[in-house]
Amino acid sequence: MPENILIAIAWPYANAEIHVGNITGSHLPGDIVARYHRLKGNNVLMVSGTDSHGTPVTLAADKEGKPVEEVYKKYHNGFLELFKGWGITYDLFTTTHTENHFKVSQSIFLALQKNGFMFKQTSKQWYSPSAKRFLPDRYVEGTCYICGFDGARSDQCDNCGNVLEPEKLINPRSREGGALELRDTEHFYLDLSKLEPDVKKFLKERADHLRDTVLGESLGKIEAEGLKPRPITRDLDWGIPVPVEGWEGKCLYVWFEAVIGYLSAPIEWSQLSRREEAWREWWVNPNARQFHFIGKDNIFFHTSLWPAQLMGAGVAFGQIYSEEEYSLTLPFDVPANQFMNLEGKKISGSRNWAVWGRDALTRYDPDALRYYLTVNMPENKDSDWDWAEFVARNNNELVATWGNLANRVLAFCYKHWDGHVPDVDENTLRPADLDLLAVISNGFNTVGAEFEAVRLRSALGEALKLATAVNVYLDVNAPWSAVKTDKDEAAKTIYTALKAIDSLKILFAPVLPFTSQRLHEFFGYTTPLFGEHYTETVGDSLGDHTVLRYRPASDPAVIEAWKPSDLKPGKKLNQPGPLFKKLETSVIDEERAKLGKQ
Ligand code: MF3
Ligand code: ZN
Repeated sequence: MPENILIAIAWPYANAEIHVGNITGSHLPGDIVARYHRLKGNNVLMVSGTDSHGTPVTLAADKEGKPVEEVYKKYHNGFLELFKGWGITYDLFTTTHTENHFKVSQSIFLALQKNGFMFKQTSKQWYSPSAKRFLPDRYVEGTCYICGFDGARSDQCDNCGNVLEPEKLINPRSREGGALELRDTEHFYLDLSKLEPDVKKFLKERADHLRDTVLGESLGKIEAEGLKPRPITRDLDWGIPVPVEGWEGKCLYVWFEAVIGYLSAPIEWSQLSRREEAWREWWVNPNARQFHFIGKDNIFFHTSLWPAQLMGAGVAFGQIYSEEEYSLTLPFDVPANQFMNLEGKKISGSRNWAVWGRDALTRYDPDALRYYLTVNMPENKDSDWDWAEFVARNNNELVATWGNLANRVLAFCYKHWDGHVPDVDENTLRPADLDLLAVISNGFNTVGAEFEAVRLRSALGEALKLATAVNVYLDVNAPWSAVKTDKDEAAKTIYTALKAIDSLKILFAPVLPFTSQRLHEFFGYTTPLFGEHYTETVGDSLGDHTVLRYRPASDPAVIEAWKPSDLKPGKKLNQPGPLFKKLETSVIDEERAKLGKQ
């Protein structure tokens, strides 16, 4: 039975371009796992979108001196281009600024209110007398009262990762300059303390597969500090209106509504696919598994806030949203990654200490970048992008161990067997041939188990080890010389190696989809391994928005491709070519020289 797998990836704020740290943090691991499950024949739905509201976005617009709507769209369109180029195969990448997302978010709000998890409270918030308005969240910065970090935002500290209470900030200052004072304002609070037992139970039930880093940041923290009520509305006019009379001019807190995108995006995807109810296969299905790919700074919102919102909304969501009763599926795993640094320093967009996703594609192939980001993925601890290591790993591993193996065997076969797989009787294969094929076949279990458990570095390492095993086999059996003395023996070696490479192509495909597809074509297969990416512009009462979509492969030949090759003797091949490019070491200094330049 195919499984239903929801791959839900953190929604990037529309306030900056995406860099390699963001890509290796969430988009790439999500895509790798999605592709793995698609190759297994599972029903995958991979969604995310642009986080278009909140102060990160309004501040970016203020800075650029342009309307928020224009600024959010500029970044959003850049994201679409980036994902297409990097092969991040979102079934739907949308935005939070849609009528659909507004409706779903407001329904969750109302369901929480109906179930008694919401209360109104007056509190003191920072106010700018000169601008005559409140300055929520990132408009105010100061010193964190928990860790002492001086660049904390009034709602969140990036240094210690804590969610903050604005009025406690030490030495608060307005991002816009000018005086600040505390004034009374009324907000809705989500009573997380009432939901604490449910959140704890939710986390404990997943303790066997949540990463230690994630469990520590969530269950560990709740056990130490408990969950406190949190204000989930703001004095802002850009965002989703609070669906309560008399609350005009206030919006839902950006974090409260952005996570709801994991539900609203599948609904939008269903509507766009003309399968209105299809979202329920992932959302109203206790057997569906939902994976949330995020960076470590987002853990609280995904392991505590979001599950609390879902559990608190309960069946009331369906009653309000579509006059039905159903419970929504809870996240299965939240494989949060740590951070990637760059040449030993924290990545910083504003200081241009970054490798930008779209820019990198102008000089490097997406699979070379995907390879390096996967071997270096910050799964359990922070990692570092180092240009010298990028070049070395590209040349010594990707090119030398895998690319050359595939190219050398295919090119040799193409030349000596007239563009065909040697016509070998499989019953005549020697023990060493069968041993190699058995080892490679078993890779579908060993590599598969690593992808399954979201240990992607290890999955890739295991696949690379198998490629090394094929190289060793070729060194021992030396078909390059045997072809001159005993072509039949050489044919057995080449046939075996081709079959192993045809299998390795699938084992590498989740990480290296572009080159696996090329290799697939060299082997003469005509059905593509994966589906197609495309953009579409859709309109609603809020205006137009462009989305990225994915049409999955539908050919039965590739729907269950995660299995050993059944390459046939005598099969016609296509002219092969190199899969990867060797990089000059001069690249290292060139790239380093660009860092930090404005
Ligand atoms: N926009 C947030 C960030 O970039 C992530 C939001 S994840 C979501 O850190 F699901 F809540 F949208
Ligand atoms: Zn702090």
